[in-house]
Amino acid sequence: MIDRPTRRAVLAGAACGLASHGIAAPGQPFGPAGRPSWSGDGLQAAAARTGLTFGTEVPGFRFARDPAYRQAVAREAGLLVCGTEMKMEVVLAEPGRTDFSQGDALVRFARGNGQRLRGHTLVWHEALPPWVPPLLARATPAQAEDFLRRWIETVAGRYRGQIASWDVVNEVLAQDGTRPDGLRESPWLAALGPGYVDLAFRILHQTDPMAAPCWNEDAVEQGVPWMEARRTRVLKRLEGMLARGVPIRRFGLQSHLTSTLPIDQGQLRRFLAEIGGMGLGIEITEFDIDDRAFPADIAVRDRMVADFARRYLDVAVAEPALLNVVSWDIYDPDTWLNDHPYRKRPDGLAQRALPLDAQFRRKPLWHTMKAVFSEAPDHAARRAKLRG
Ligand code: G3I
Repeated sequence: MIDRPTRRAVLAGAACGLASHGIAAPGQPFGPAGRPSWSGDGLQAAAARTGLTFGTEVPGFRFARDPAYRQAVAREAGLLVCGTEMKMEVVLAEPGRTDFSQGDALVRFARGNGQRLRGHTLVWHEALPPWVPPLLARATPAQAEDFLRRWIETVAGRYRGQIASWDVVNEVLAQDGTRPDGLRESPWLAALGPGYVDLAFRILHQTDPMAAPCWNEDAVEQGVPWMEARRTRVLKRLEGMLARGVPIRRFGLQSHLTSTLPIDQGQLRRFLAEIGGMGLGIEITEFDIDDRAFPADIAVRDRMVADFARRYLDVAVAEPALLNVVSWDIYDPDTWLNDHPYRKRPDGLAQRALPLDAQFRRKPLWHTMKAVFSEAPDHAARRAKLRG
């Protein structure tokens, strides 16, 4: 019988496995930088007019097997982000063995297309390989910090110089706000204490100073009291991080909008202005619209989704600090919403959450996004400065 590895052995194995993947020389393993692939009539072309970038999350399984999908992504987007392929659950599925193959493939594709890249995500309470939570639960703070450092150095080191911004931490706020600091209970918090957030930012910045460190958060976008309370916590924590000299440069609103809740344009405008006023860049990082509250009829539903999106995006693109609008995939059949227990439609119909339909046709949501980008105020100069 093979002895179960001791915690120390697994930590060492994980650590030395991680350590073996040092910082790759930027540019070499990912091929030459190519000419922009997006079409003159696409969403990226419209967004770029005012200094914005439009992008999309790309699920590895679709990217690998569907040439029509790759063509649509190349045509529409100026930025790509892996849905799961740079997460620990994929890169470090087994202790001490890293798999960058899918992340590398997307980086090569984006570079060849002249597209920017986002990194998603270094520290999250989900998408951890099964062996990691028990490991963290029994690690000393020093061992946990070493593991976190080697993880970030390995994955961000591999893509050093390729990534415009990294989601350093994802969804760190609690859903219910039981802790005075508002942080979510997680294996990282338990192992390292509340300082894990600042620590992760410092490690990323040391590993890849060219990547803008970003805090990515959900449920901060819409006009309900519990989201307003979260927005207040975000602003307080951002001020504290900046006061402590934490190298944060961006805040990401995931923007998984739900048709079941209102959009309060005044609250949203004030929230974005407060963040921009801190000198931070802002990103919409996972845009889609859960159409559960809208009727089944496709023509009616598509129109309502587009109008709902407009209420949100008109405010967002008017904020000079907004840099990117990234949808969480671009292609309706792939949306995560259909698989989610409380996000899927009660009538069982497929959600129509994204700009392109199952035949890659441009939907009313696409046309509305195009119009929003085309009519947006020009903040190209401020955005260029924020991109550094
Ligand atoms: O690719 C494998 C496939 O080979 C296998 O047969 C199948 C069944 O095990 O799993 C497939 O991988 C799944 C992957 O999605 C496919 O893209 C993973 O198990 C599954 O965990 C993964 O879920 C992703 C989830 O994050 C967790 O990483 C979703 O696609 C992705 O949309 C979702 O994205 C999150 C953001 O990162 C953070 N914000 C919320 C958002 C939605 O939950």
